[in-house]
Amino acid sequence: LLFNHKHWHLHLLLLAPTCTMTSPRLRGDKGEAGIKGEKGSKGDTGVEGIPGMNGQQGEKGEPGSKGEKGDLGPAGVMGPLGPKGNPGSRGIKGSKGDNSKDQRSAFSAGLSKSFPPPNVPIKFDKILYNDQEDYNPSTGKFNCSIPGAYVFAYHMTIRGRPARISIVAQNKKIVKTRETLYGQEIDQASFLVILKLNAGDQVWLEVGRDWNGIYVSAEDDSIFTGFLLYPDDIYETLA
Ligand SMILES: *[C@@H]1O[C@H](CO)[C@@H](O)[C@H](O)[C@H]1NC(C)=O
Repeated sequence: LLFNHKHWHLHLLLLAPTCTMTSPRLRGDKGEAGIKGEKGSKGDTGVEGIPGMNGQQGEKGEPGSKGEKGDLGPAGVMGPLGPKGNPGSRGIKGSKGDNSKDQRSAFSAGLSKSFPPPNVPIKFDKILYNDQEDYNPSTGKFNCSIPGAYVFAYHMTIRGRPARISIVAQNKKIVKTRETLYGQEIDQASFLVILKLNAGDQVWLEVGRDWNGIYVSAEDDSIFTGFLLYPDDIYETLA
C-alpha cells in the first residue's frame, strides 16, 4: 500500500504539465500490462571491427629436416712449429773411395856414368819407374807432393875407391855412410830409411869429394829408390 501511494504521487508530478495543456480530466486506474510481443527479425550484419591485439607467442615447433651440405670453407691459418723429431737411424756404409790413384808416389832410377861429381845431387838418369814424376832425373831430386811417410833406399856398386854417401832431405844430410875399398875390388853399398816428409820437401843423394867410388857398367848398376809408404791422415794434416 505504501508503494502504490508513492507511485501515485510521482505520476502526479510527471503528468501535471501535460495536464495543464489539455483540458484536465479525471484519470482512471492504470490498466493491466499487455502481453509480450513476438520476437523481431534478425538485424543486419554490423561493420567490421578493428583488429585485435597480437596474441601471445606459441610453443616451440619440431626441429626442421637437415639442410644440404655447404661449400668448402677457406684454408685455415698455419699452425705453430711442431716439436723436434727423433734422431734418424744410421745410414748404410758407403762404397770404398777411389782416391788411391792420387795417393801414389814412387820412383827408381839408375846411374849411367861412374864417379858422379861430389857435393851436389847425384843425377840418376836411367829411369826404371817414375810414373808420378816426383823424381826429376835432370836435377837428381825427389820432390814430395803427398805428405806422409816415405821409404828411401840406395843400392850402389862401389869399385876402386872408398865411398861416402849421404841421403839429403830438407837440406840436411839425414843419413851418412861410408865404404872403404881399394884396387879392383867391387862391393855393394846399401841403405834404407823411412822419412816423414811434407809437400815440397826434397830428397837426393850426394857423395863426398874424396870418397866417391860409385861405379856403373854394363854389368853393374847403382840405383836410387823412393816411395810413399803411407800418406798422412788428412785430419792429422789439418790439425
Ligand atoms: C814440389 O812439390 C810441391 C808440392 O806438390 C810443388 O808445389 C812444387 O812446385 C814442387 N817443386 C818442384 C821443383 O817441382
